[in-house]
Amino acid sequence: MSLPEVKLKSLFGHAIAFWIVLLAFTPTCDAFFRNLMIGDTAMARVDPIMTPGKPAQHVHHLNGGSNLDFQSTGESLSSSNCTNSVLTVDKSAYWAPWLYFQHDNGSFEDVKLALGLTAYYKYEIRGIAGPDVTYSVFPKGLRMLSGDSAKRTWKGPWPVPDLSAWGSEDMSQEALQEKAMGFNCMNYEPGKNEPSFAYPWLRNKTFLDANCINGVRAEIIFPSCWDGKNLDSADHKSHVAFPSLIQDGVCPPTHPIYLPILFYETIWQTNNFIDKSGKFVFANGDPTGYGYHADFIAAWDDGVQEAVRDNPACTGLNTDGEVEQCPVFSGKIQTQADAKSCKLTLPEAVIDEATDGILSGLPGQVEVTGERHDPGSPVNQPEPSPSTSLPASRTSPTASASVVNSTAYYSAPATPATMAISVTSSPVAPPVNLPSTTTSTYTSGRYVVEMVLIEAITTVTATTVPVTTQTIVVNTTSYSSSPSSQHTARHIHRHARKHVPHGHGHF
Ligand SMILES: *[C@@H]1O[C@H](CO)[C@@H](O)[C@H](O)[C@H]1NC(C)=O
Ligand SMILES: *[C@@H]1O[C@H](CO)[C@@H](O)[C@H](O)[C@H]1NC(C)=O
Ligand SMILES: *[C@@H]1O[C@H](CO)[C@@H](O)[C@H](O)[C@H]1NC(C)=O
Ligand SMILES: *[C@@H]1O[C@H](CO)[C@@H](O)[C@H](O)[C@H]1NC(C)=O
Ligand SMILES: *[C@@H]1O[C@H](CO)[C@@H](O)[C@H](O)[C@H]1NC(C)=O
Repeated sequence: MSLPEVKLKSLFGHAIAFWIVLLAFTPTCDAFFRNLMIGDTAMARVDPIMTPGKPAQHVHHLNGGSNLDFQSTGESLSSSNCTNSVLTVDKSAYWAPWLYFQHDNGSFEDVKLALGLTAYYKYEIRGIAGPDVTYSVFPKGLRMLSGDSAKRTWKGPWPVPDLSAWGSEDMSQEALQEKAMGFNCMNYEPGKNEPSFAYPWLRNKTFLDANCINGVRAEIIFPSCWDGKNLDSADHKSHVAFPSLIQDGVCPPTHPIYLPILFYETIWQTNNFIDKSGKFVFANGDPTGYGYHADFIAAWDDGVQEAVRDNPACTGLNTDGEVEQCPVFSGKIQTQADAKSCKLTLPEAVIDEATDGILSGLPGQVEVTGERHDPGSPVNQPEPSPSTSLPASRTSPTASASVVNSTAYYSAPATPATMAISVTSSPVAPPVNLPSTTTSTYTSGRYVVEMVLIEAITTVTATTVPVTTQTIVVNTTSYSSSPSSQHTARHIHRHARKHVPHGHGHF
């Protein structure tokens, strides 16, 4: 797939140059690779970060290097003799709570996985920090956690304000964490796909039964700014931080090192319970989804991460995430069957514990706490009557034909193609002699791009032939040297994440 590129120079004279890339959306063009863990290495109460040396509070979906146990370190994981990653050079550990279904009679039953866990490693151009950002690799033994197992309610404003309107309260670490997860309704019928991270809570059973006929995908993003010194911290969180826009933006000065953006996805086959009455509960006793969380310990073979990062065929803008296309992984990819066969030898204390099938209670005698509810709504609500159609998503494209003030989405009218647009306003005062409006139109391959500049606000209107969804990335290099580049964080945003959900084809 070739990238149509449009270069638009110096609309503000010397002040600003925009470089626009139209990226075909399907298959993806993005700077990432997709690391598949097949099945699990175990389903057990193991968590060396939260409960070293003893059984974990709750059951996890365990993945990665086979030496994951109560005491794992980067070194011990590195000497694992297998991994359930398709990449044999990755012995890192990846885990998150298992999902159960509680039948009306009180019994619990494990929900099955669709294939396993996908760990995305994203090396996106950061709109604000600029394309010159150098990503660190995950240092061996780095431990981190995303999410809060005790959380049961939504704390921030709902609906989430548009990125362009985020204030400091929306960008506190707690507020960013809250927004860094989602539960996608899976429905492979055309037009029923939901955007990622739109629903950071579990929706009611009636809705799931009516709509999520292919299951529910849990998604969680890790912090990707590091203090550069500590591999862990007392709360397992404060050595890392989210950048200002979760998957984009700038790292705080206390955590100046940019790590790849690590992001897990797991599809749970909740559809196996469509005709059953009861509720879904995570192994930590959470029926809401707000308490979802995930853990990671880095243990890659030496040098691999650097080689992958530095090879454009692996993590360049034009990659589609398939590890087979990355030469660094040549000869290092095992079959899914081999990956799936990698199992842990569980510690004695949990080896005989039943974690699947019909159970009288959650393993570890975890109590169910909290009640499922939508953000902002009372905790006690009746289950709704069945619904047959998906709600209008709050991130679906609008029918508007233009984008103003970097807030809206653009959809070419009467075509199925959509275009997600990043627009930026100038961090510097525009020259006084600037014409109030400048319009430029370009044709590049199948794309027609029209840029309209109105004072310091950039408006981008893009028209495309049907077939693919497009993403525009604005090259903000010219900002990164500006003393006020931090300030532009408020003005730059990138909607409709370029992340492409995997469906039948990939997973
Ligand atoms: C993997 O390691 C375990 C224990 O460390 C050992 O029992 C097992 O034989 C090893 N498997 C292979 C394939 O080397
Ligand atoms: C509860 O219901 C489930 C599903 O029908 C069944 O498998 C299980 O045996 C029941 N448990 C009890 C204690 O009756
Ligand atoms: C159930 O979920 C659907 C979809 O989110 C929503 O429209 C409906 O209001 C919910 N009902 C209740 C009572 O929460
Ligand atoms: C952009 O839109 C937001 C929200 O609609 C508004 O508060 C803000 O004033 C607008 N900014 C400009 C520069 O028009
Ligand atoms: C962004 O633009 C600058 C200046 O035009 C250019 O030097 C740089 O290579 C561009 N970045 C990318 C990633 O193309």
